[in-house]
Amino acid sequence: MSAATATARAQAALTDFRPRPDDIRGDAVAGLSRSPKRLSSKYFYDGEGSRLFEEITRQPEYYLTRVEQELLDARMPAMADAVGPDVHVVEYGSGSGRKTRQLLQGLHGVVAYTPVEISRSTLLASTGRLAAAFPRIEMLPVCADFTRALTLPMAARTPRRTLMFFPGSTLGNFTNDEAVAILRAMRETMGNDGRALVGVDLDKDPAVIEAAYNDAAGVTAAFTLNLLVRLNREIGSDFALDGFRHRAVYARERGRIETFLVSQRAQDVHVAGRTFAFADGEAMLVEYSHKYTDGGLAELAAAAGLRLVERWNDDRDWFGLRLLAPA
Ligand code: AVI
Repeated sequence: MSAATATARAQAALTDFRPRPDDIRGDAVAGLSRSPKRLSSKYFYDGEGSRLFEEITRQPEYYLTRVEQELLDARMPAMADAVGPDVHVVEYGSGSGRKTRQLLQGLHGVVAYTPVEISRSTLLASTGRLAAAFPRIEMLPVCADFTRALTLPMAARTPRRTLMFFPGSTLGNFTNDEAVAILRAMRETMGNDGRALVGVDLDKDPAVIEAAYNDAAGVTAAFTLNLLVRLNREIGSDFALDGFRHRAVYARERGRIETFLVSQRAQDVHVAGRTFAFADGEAMLVEYSHKYTDGGLAELAAAAGLRLVERWNDDRDWFGLRLLAPA
């Protein structure tokens, strides 16, 4: 199947819940008005941000992607047995990448695949690529905000089970309250016999974690600063790009990497007709990346009406995949 045909088919199969577009200007003004100031990491992923994130995953210090892929390779037979045959796989975020392919190849029969993604163009392009690679799997893309429960499109062949796939420790970019809301939405979407396979980065030696978010080549710093480039371009703000520096610190007591953009001098920034004053050294929070313990994760799952069924870690206990089921 050609890429054009595959994308056309994905478009024909699209279920569009018409999610409300992000209000980047309103969110930026609201975040800059807070004390301490903050901006949302959800705005990292414009074209350049997505490219830089891919580059991060290839940095020697950023172990998350590599270790999760190795874990999926090594433990896929056990995961497939635990999940069972004839699965409708639902993925949060449109995964056209290696991990999605590993899962679709490794499970004991995938009836349908539903990527859930807020950006229609990203969704259709990635679904098209997967459709070309997996012509026998029914592609049922859904354009929606994955933080809410949704009614899944019906597959032509009846699946035995829905499997929600949320790899990459993306759950960690949300606050614990938000993570519970996402897990609860998964619980509702998957139904009583459903399962969720969630990738989680684990608490460990802080030096290992901090190195992953402060790579020597400076790719993560460029990724963080790209947020300001995006705001300047899209909402006409005037952040001075040499006026802020990336800083990522593992706050172990709170179980998370906290990433800041730190003002290098006293300066004013103008956004949407408003002036925001930064002090020299003022730190603006731009991202959380939570690192989980078994206990902490069990609490989040329980609060969302889920229980742990299986856990797979790499040999060093750096990264884990967790299979969750309705409690
Ligand atoms: C997408 N997410 C899981 C990444 C993480 O590790 O929190 C985003 C990232 N931020 C800095 N480096 C990578």
